[in-house]
Amino acid sequence: MPAITLTTLQSLKQKGEKITMLTCYDATFAHACNEAGVEVLLVGDSLGMVLQGHDSTLPVTTAEMAYHTACVKRGNTDALILADLPFMANATIEQTLTNSATLMQAGAHMVKVEGQLWLAESIRLLAERGVPVCAHMGLTPQAVNILGGYKVQGRNENQARQMRADAISLEQAGAAMLLLECVPSELAAEISQAVKIPVIGIGAGSDTDGQVLVLHDMLGLSITGRVPKFVKNFMQGQDSIQSALKAYVNEVKGVTFPGIEHGFSA
Ligand code: KIV
Repeated sequence: MPAITLTTLQSLKQKGEKITMLTCYDATFAHACNEAGVEVLLVGDSLGMVLQGHDSTLPVTTAEMAYHTACVKRGNTDALILADLPFMANATIEQTLTNSATLMQAGAHMVKVEGQLWLAESIRLLAERGVPVCAHMGLTPQAVNILGGYKVQGRNENQARQMRADAISLEQAGAAMLLLECVPSELAAEISQAVKIPVIGIGAGSDTDGQVLVLHDMLGLSITGRVPKFVKNFMQGQDSIQSALKAYVNEVKGVTFPGIEHGFSA
């Protein structure tokens, strides 16, 4: 077991201490993130974009996710490892169970699935079988072709009401964590208050229970040069990657990141 468990994250939420998460895809960065005190390492399918150079996360396979999860596990001692089920790896219940087992056996402590209320049944089945699940809501990049681009979600009252209701239903189904991406800050704050499980935000304001960023983004590395509004380059003012990681942890814990300028309004 790592030093950080779900119980740790739950008690951080109860104490009002912010949870720190970063994406991580290899052993060296897992070690560096441990040294900086990052509590959750997300082996995100964003690796399809930042490592493999694709223009979306859709080409990523479960085998690739398992490979990078195993790399992260070898460099990790302290953090909880969360691994993404990639595009269509949870298309059926059978695939959800089999592919989650592959990621857990590679070293994940929890899996992340993108979607809304339709996830409830698979979350319940996974939780019953010992697999903690994080439900990724709001902007779900695997659905970029349905959403018509990488757009803020939950901006109108109907969408916001639906997202609040779905968050509560997924908690009731057994989700251990929620991740809200590109959601108006006020809505993310309401959802974080409405559920007992930790809520991690990215482009969701400072009132969620924790924050996540893509590692390459927060180190100022980009292939396209397009930097989302919610990203801060933590290399600025730092002389090493290690101090940039530490600055991220300090700013999330001290609630100085994200600032108002990194969030979205309704
Ligand atoms: O894959 C990923 O890196 C993610 C983050 C954007 C939260 O899901």
